[in-house]
Amino acid sequence: MAERIDTARLSLRAPCAENGPALHAAVHASLPELRAWMIWAASPLDELGYIDHLRDAAERFQARTELRYLIFDRTTETLVGSTGIHNLNWRVPKGEIGYWVDTRFAGRGLVTEAVIALTEYAQKDLRFRRVEIRCDAQNVRSRAVAQRAGYTLDATLINDDVAAHDSSQLRDTLIFSRVQ
Ligand SMILES: CC(C)(COP(=O)(O)OP(=O)(O)OC[C@H]1O[C@@H](n2cnc3c(N)ncnc32)[C@H](O)[C@@H]1OP(=O)(O)O)[C@@H](O)C(=O)NCCC(=O)NCCS
Repeated sequence: MAERIDTARLSLRAPCAENGPALHAAVHASLPELRAWMIWAASPLDELGYIDHLRDAAERFQARTELRYLIFDRTTETLVGSTGIHNLNWRVPKGEIGYWVDTRFAGRGLVTEAVIALTEYAQKDLRFRRVEIRCDAQNVRSRAVAQRAGYTLDATLINDDVAAHDSSQLRDTLIFSRVQ
């Protein structure tokens, strides 16, 4: 499993507990945007919590139950976001890509660059037959990432879950895929 995937501007790196403080800083700088779409952002962790969280993610990476990557700017070594492949099914094989960006680094195409690189790694090296992206139908920016990264809309699941920003509302979920 690749511990590091490099692109023109970025370095995607497997999780490591020592990045806990940087992850904590990125999450806390981005809470309004994250809370709109990510249920976990309603209760963000403290710095020690993110160290433990990354230690657990590193164990899942080694066990191949989740392939989480932190996204770094290659030049400055700044942590700019997070991505990864979860809901893995190695029998197909297939998985689902998730992502978020530190708001201070949004609008530069960094997430699209990371998602394209991770999808290509999954398809070429891991021989994934299906890579999915799922997002709230109202999450226009996430949907745009999937489309820029060459994903096709497969389905819309009506009333699939509760909305991250308001548990009294239901959300529809878009399912995008790239298959081979
Ligand atoms: C979804 C999310 C990751 C999208 O972030 P983003 O910064 O819009 O995505 P990218 O990094 O791909 O940047 C795309 C933007 O950069 C611009 N851009 C600049 N240079 C670019 C380049 N070289 N390549 C591509 N786009 C570029 C694009 O035009 C686009 O801007 P626009 O939306 O104003 O047209 C972000 O909004 C986020 O973290 N949201 C909260 C968490 C979330 O919703 N995660 C997804 C859950 S399914």
